Amino acid sequence: MTILITGGAGFIGSHFIRHVLNTYPEDRVVDFDKLTYAGNLDNLRDVEEKVAQEGKRDSPRYVFVQGDIADEAMIREVMAREKVEAVVNFAAETHVDRSIHDPRPFLEANVLGVGVLLAVAREFGAKRFVQVSTDEVYGSISEGYCTETAALNPANPYSACKAGAEHLVLSFAHTYGLEVAITRGSNTFGPHQHPEKFIPRTVTRLLAGKTVPVYGYGLNIRTWLAVEDHAAAIDAVLRSGQNGEVYNIAGAVEKPNIEVALSIAYLLGKPPRLIEFVEDRPGHDFRYGVDAGKISRELGWMPERSFEDELQETVRWYTENPWWWQKIIGEGKVEYL
Ligand SMILES: NC(=O)c1ccc[n+]([C@@H]2O[C@H](COP(=O)([O-])OP(=O)(O)OC[C@H]3O[C@@H](n4cnc5c(N)ncnc54)[C@H](O)[C@@H]3O)[C@@H](O)[C@H]2O)c1
Repeated sequence: MTILITGGAGFIGSHFIRHVLNTYPEDRVVDFDKLTYAGNLDNLRDVEEKVAQEGKRDSPRYVFVQGDIADEAMIREVMAREKVEAVVNFAAETHVDRSIHDPRPFLEANVLGVGVLLAVAREFGAKRFVQVSTDEVYGSISEGYCTETAALNPANPYSACKAGAEHLVLSFAHTYGLEVAITRGSNTFGPHQHPEKFIPRTVTRLLAGKTVPVYGYGLNIRTWLAVEDHAAAIDAVLRSGQNGEVYNIAGAVEKPNIEVALSIAYLLGKPPRLIEFVEDRPGHDFRYGVDAGKISRELGWMPERSFEDELQETVRWYTENPWWWQKIIGEGKVEYL
């Protein structure tokens, strides 16, 4: 199968590409990414080298194309040239803080871009369209767990745009019969995550001997999902998910942010006093909670990695690969809080 993976140069998309190429020798991947400040081809260096060694010049298993999912002509050209059979859409603006400062790029990529991608996928008769969405579309819940039938209640421009995209995706299934599925993953972490996000920001700032700002009193709760587990879950939905269905994906552990920050300081041997509380962000969702029973019952997916092991591995990776994150910070591509 030839899969168009949009946003594949980002954090989760790059792990997904590696997962597909390592698991399915017959599959080909076309990585279509705009390379915004968050896109990074360093995430896929090993993949490029491996594919170059395979030497399949006419039909390499990995192809990269730089482009915008809202650029209809370009998507059409790539779908035709590469004979794409399935689309998995990771491409999005993803940082909630940025969406609060300026929602427009979020509307363009996360809503308009998805609409364009769907229209072209339909035109080319794609066999499958997977939209990678987020548990944030349910909004904050103080207790309990949302199943896939819960009402959507997004509370910031990022999650509102992701919810809007979901409605578009389902409308294409209903109106045109496009084969679609949606995943709603929880907070994801692991190597290659941009240093503006909570866990990498905490690790890299502590490594650099800086203080770590934590919103409010760090009591906001997130359910943490290892990136390899997230990639495997999306793959299960791509291959075996039911048409028109939504699947929650959650890690096994929920924790307040302050506990995660303190665990990282402990792993790095840094004093807890480096963690500083700062004024909370507007509309900060207190807790997300999703029930991932459906994907486990129907598709047999379960998270395999423990939070503690994955956190240790993530801290090790950032410690051993300063070239990766120092380059990003050095390029000034990130407002490094
Ligand atoms: N990180 C998480 O915790 C998490 C959790 C659940 C769901 N998600 C969803 O997973 C997806 C990937 O998240 P991530 O954390 O890997 O994000 P990321 O910010 O690391 O990567 C996003 C990628 O999309 C690309 N991109 C942005 N706009 C584009 C456009 N218009 N056209 C083409 N490419 C574009 C960027 O260049 C980048 O490579 C997103 O859709 C996000 O909403 C993320």
